[in-house]
This record gives sequence, C-alpha cells and structure tokens, in this order.
Amino acid sequence: MFASKDVVSLDDAYVIHTYGRLPVEFVNGSGAVLVDACGNEYLDFLAGIGSVSLGHAHPALVKALSEQATKVWQVGNYYHEENRGELARELSRMLSIKTDLDGVECGSTNTTWKTFFANTGAEANEGAIKLARRWGERNLDGASGIITARKSFHGRTLATLSATGQDVFHKSFGPLPTGFCAVPLNDVDALTRTIDAPPAECGPVCAVMLECIQGEGGVWPADLEYLRAVRSLCDERGLMLVVDEVQTGFFRTGAPFSYARAGIEPDIVSMAKGIAGGFPTGAVAARSEVADLMVPGDHGSTFGGNPLAAAVGRACVETMRKEHIGEHVLEAGEHLEQRLLGLPHVMEVRGAGLMRGAQLDVPIATALVDEGLSLAATERKGLVLNHIGDSILRFLPPLVVTKEQIDEMADSLELLINKLA
Ligand SMILES: Cc1ncc(COP(=O)(O)O)c(C=O)c1O
Repeated sequence: MFASKDVVSLDDAYVIHTYGRLPVEFVNGSGAVLVDACGNEYLDFLAGIGSVSLGHAHPALVKALSEQATKVWQVGNYYHEENRGELARELSRMLSIKTDLDGVECGSTNTTWKTFFANTGAEANEGAIKLARRWGERNLDGASGIITARKSFHGRTLATLSATGQDVFHKSFGPLPTGFCAVPLNDVDALTRTIDAPPAECGPVCAVMLECIQGEGGVWPADLEYLRAVRSLCDERGLMLVVDEVQTGFFRTGAPFSYARAGIEPDIVSMAKGIAGGFPTGAVAARSEVADLMVPGDHGSTFGGNPLAAAVGRACVETMRKEHIGEHVLEAGEHLEQRLLGLPHVMEVRGAGLMRGAQLDVPIATALVDEGLSLAATERKGLVLNHIGDSILRFLPPLVVTKEQIDEMADSLELLINKLA
C-alpha cells in the first residue's frame, strides 16, 4: 500500500464508493512521472484519464494558475473576463485546422467557431445535445432524436447516459431521458436505416453524435471512410453532426481534433479533458450559424469558463501550439504502437497518436494494472496503467511523454506479462 493509512480510512468511511480505488496516493508529479506518498516514482500512462495533456506541473500552466489565483477566481458569467475570449479564439483556430490522414496540419477551413464553456465532458455533451435539439426545433420540424454508436461513452449525467451506447451504464438509473438510440459503429446502412425509420424511443432525428475513436468502450476507431459517409448523410438530411472530442481532442491523436484526420468538419464539437491540462474544464463549440441559435437564458453554468479555468486553458492551448505538440505526439505515438506490438500476448494495437488500446489474448489486464503499481516497491519505477475489461490495456500518457519513457514502460510491461501469462 503506497498511501497513508488516514487517507485510506477517511476515504473508506466518508466518500461514496463509486470507484474501486487502487491503494496509491500520488502527492507530486512532473511531466510523465508521478510520486507517491512514500516517495516512489511511477511512469504515468493514464494522465488523469487523458486530461494531464502537457504533463504534471508544466511551468506555463503553473504560472498561469498561480498568477490568476492572486487576482480573481470567480465572478459569474454575467461579466466579461480577461482570458475567455482569447481561449475561445484559439479554439476556433484549432477546430478549423485541416490535417492529412495521419494528423499532420495542412491548412484551415477558415470556419468561425463559437464556444460555450462548461466544467466537464458530460456537461459539454449536455450543451451539445441542447444545441442539436435547438437546430431540430428551428430547421427540422421539431425533430429531437439523436443517434449515437454502440460502445460509445458520453458521460454520467442522465441525458449523456442515455446517449451512451452501453447498457451496462443504464441499469438502475431509469427512467432515462428519451430521444436517443445507438447503432453499430462503422455500419453506414444501419445508420441510414435508423435515420429513415427511427425507433419510438428516439423519434425523428436531428443529429448523429460520435466519438472518432471510442475511448471508454475499449479504444475502437471509427473508419475514416465511415466518418466521411456520416458527414455526407448529415449534409443530405440537414442533420447536425456532433463529434465528442472529450477524449480525442487537443492533439491526443496527433491532430488538434481527431475528425480532421477524416477530412471532415462537424457542426458541433464537445471537449474537456486535455483542454486545460487537468484543470477541470469542458467546452462545446459550434459553427457560428448553429451557435447563434442560442440566446441569453438558453444555457448556463455557474463555474463554466471561470477566470482560473480560462487562464489555464489559454496557457495550455497556447503552449501546445508553441511546443508543436502534435508533431511530438505523432512520433511518440508511433513508437508506442511499435513497442506495444512487440510485446508478448498483444494481438492488436488500436487507436492513434498517444491514445492506444492493446488487445491481449489472455485475461490479465486487471492484474497487470495492479502489478504495474507494485513495481514501485522494486528498483524499477511503478507503472500507472489502465484496463478496459480484462483483455484491453488503454494507454493515455501525457502528450509530453518521451521515447525513453515509453521504452522504460514497455520493458517493465514485458516482464509483467511474462510473469502473469
Ligand atoms: C468521449 C467522452 N465523452 C464524455 C466523457 C465524460 O467526461 P467527464 O467525465 O469529464 O464528464 C468522457 C469521459 O471519459 C469521454 O471519454
């Protein structure tokens, strides 16, 4: 156990047990390295579930947060604020970037995007759902149904649970909001049939909502041709294409946003995780034609885009640009893929950039996560790993992870796989 006893017993006694917590308390971090309460070091290949985009304690983010902390924390969205507009302008620029199939920048669509700031991914998706339904109300005779994908994940609020195409998350919490149904990913015919004849619980459709790579479902990519076909279908029928970039956004896959790799542009994009390097922030952006359907009073959030979040978010996206983080992610991501493919019992590696899923042919993923932490008691660094089910390992390291750190992780993981398999 690498956590102080008091911390563990207080958590057991007073915190609601919605998480099966692992026996480690991290007290410090730098880049892709975490340090526990006993002073042991770990290589972090989860990055706060994909949110610590620039690594722990990045100096530019520490500076932005500390400076803002001495000025003003929270005033409410009734007032103007120093960094909010700058962050929204940078998001508009990033959302318009065109890339090639690999995620290398190659131009701009010059679209103007407008952003609503929230606090989490689920809240960003709630905003996306409201925007899509407003579009349906104004342009599609009140159509409000949203088609999502099986194995998708969009959050834990009631509406985003309804949108999530995994029944396991739905049980016990009904009645859930209606107006959603899920179809298999990468099946254009199934999507077309469902748009034409939606089930009763969905009703006439106003939008299709997708992750370009399903993260929580097990790192399952949408085919790039599928994404293009969905874009065309939405154009033909006048539907909104909503892309959930909560996990894939902010260079996680190499591209600023993963839809760019398919050469498409959505109408609505939800974001969170990497946007502010781990400071809790979410956002939903829409093309201005869609965004302008919202007027004062239609949506809100007390803390959304507050001065602390806006300052850190701005510093984060500006640093990503200055440090050419996308180029690093593409190189490091390829290296990670190659090293994972070389490991015993890895049958397949899915994903892009620094979002990878390794499919194992033995059910040892849970044990590998436990053993990875236990390595901290040896002369090796511990490993912070993540599993989805018992045969998928998911890798979401900070985007600044080095090739040497990837090698060190892969060497240790090989030892653990050989021990357990
Ligand atoms: C694609 C996607 N959408 C939405 C969410 C929900 O984000 P949050 O936990 O910040 O509400 C997640 C979280 O993992 C996610 O991966």
